Amino acid sequence: MYTRSGELVTISRVNLKGRWKFLRSLRFRIMLIMILMGIIPTIVVENVVVQSYENRAVSQRSIIVKNQSDILCNQLVSLGYMEDPANEVINGEFNMLTSIYGGRILVINKDYKVIRDTYDLDRGKYLISQEVIDCFNGVETSQYDEKNQYIEMTVKISDPESVNKDVVGVMLISVSTLEINTSREILEQKGTMILAIIVVLILVFGYVLSGILVKPFQKITRSIEELTDGYLEESISVPDYLETELITDAFNKMLSRVKTLDDSRQEFVSNVSHELKTPLASMKVLADSLNMQENVPVEQYQEFMQDISEEIDRENSIITDLLSLVKMDKKAADLNIEMTNINELLELVLKRLRPIASKQNVELILDSFRPVNAEIDQTKMTLALSNLVENAIKYNNPEGGWVRVSLNADHKYFYVTVADSGIGIPEESLNHIFERFYRVDKSHSREIGGTGLGLAISRSAIVMHRGAIKVYSKENEGTTFSVRIPLVYIA
Ligand SMILES: Nc1ncnc2c1ncn2[C@@H]1O[C@H](COP(=O)(O)OP(=O)(O)OP(=O)(O)O)[C@@H](O)[C@H]1O
Ligand SMILES: [Mg+2]
Repeated sequence: MYTRSGELVTISRVNLKGRWKFLRSLRFRIMLIMILMGIIPTIVVENVVVQSYENRAVSQRSIIVKNQSDILCNQLVSLGYMEDPANEVINGEFNMLTSIYGGRILVINKDYKVIRDTYDLDRGKYLISQEVIDCFNGVETSQYDEKNQYIEMTVKISDPESVNKDVVGVMLISVSTLEINTSREILEQKGTMILAIIVVLILVFGYVLSGILVKPFQKITRSIEELTDGYLEESISVPDYLETELITDAFNKMLSRVKTLDDSRQEFVSNVSHELKTPLASMKVLADSLNMQENVPVEQYQEFMQDISEEIDRENSIITDLLSLVKMDKKAADLNIEMTNINELLELVLKRLRPIASKQNVELILDSFRPVNAEIDQTKMTLALSNLVENAIKYNNPEGGWVRVSLNADHKYFYVTVADSGIGIPEESLNHIFERFYRVDKSHSREIGGTGLGLAISRSAIVMHRGAIKVYSKENEGTTFSVRIPLVYIA
């Protein structure tokens, strides 16, 4: 983009690196949450439904088989099957039961001998398993073997004629649950299909919804990109959400700060060029006029050379001031903090300036109310305070006046005030005197001399010390600068 000064500033577009860019997006997270919120309950419900179907089907099957077996057992005893297992009626019923439920029936007599096996495999063998023993003791069992898909149960054959209803045999029945499992699988397949449909629906719905939700944020990015491509003058506004409004507000604030910085930088650059060119222009005029004349008298040469030398001094002092300003602009880490006696420091400042003061017929007074020691950068603080005192002398009453410097402190800060009986500063200028190159009255200031950098340097130095500077002034009466600096330097 081009700033107003016309310089080319390249600002690369927001272009995030990384292959997994989408995974980090708000949009993806919204979709993920929606999918999880849709899928987890569906899976839970599906499992509960399938499991309860299976439990119910197995227990119903067990009850039916048990009832039929009970009836059979009664018939076994009454028809004397335990003694003669060749009974056609009973065997017919066995075959029917086993063919309906796809199972196997073993009848075991009191001697644990298998007297009937519908598979004809174990007839005549002895079967002494825990379940059979339990059943002879009156405890019938029923177990569901989910893995091999069958229910195994023991049913006691008891003699209704006997007094204690003696157990005369045990019927061991196993029934297949294959079709229960088949139904269960079908249910599961349907569940999976429903799940897949739900996922697809959520994906579509989530994509659309998340798109709507993140749109204002995309709007912000687009607005900022348009701004960086275009003008700093505009501001952005995306009031869709409270959050986006807060972001754009913060951005606009930053933007206006950038604008201010840009303005002051441009003004500074143009002022610097102007100020540096002025002495050069004077020197050029002086040198040219000497060159164009023939037989210039020595006195005129000397006079012009004197003027040129003064302009060089002026140029030099501007450059020195600029360099100190640039130094002040650096980070506060560059401060060289030392515990310093401020009373001595002020005495030294005044001692150096006393010759100028007496030349101008200005009385210089120092009021130290108490001894003050503080952590400061001596060079920078000396420069800051010297500039204030120098101004107070420079802009004083031509008929002679006074400058009063006072030093005081409390438990946290020390205070320096520089008051003078000088020409004062007009009210409309008070807000500008700390700006670089600002001088109240150009023509008047020109004869006094200066570049307008002194107060800017002072203020930078004071701010670096986390201090503050204030000015009070009345035209033709005098000016007071008051400075407040923390006794202990806060990094
Ligand atoms: N004590 C004062 N009394 C009256 N006017 C003042 C006083 N101090 C500063 N000013 C006004 O503020 C202006 C800015 O002061 P500043 O010290 O920044 O620059 P300068 O004195 O003109 O130049 P230099 O860079 O040499 O200090 C001065 O030109 C002057 O007009
Ligand atoms: Mg000054």
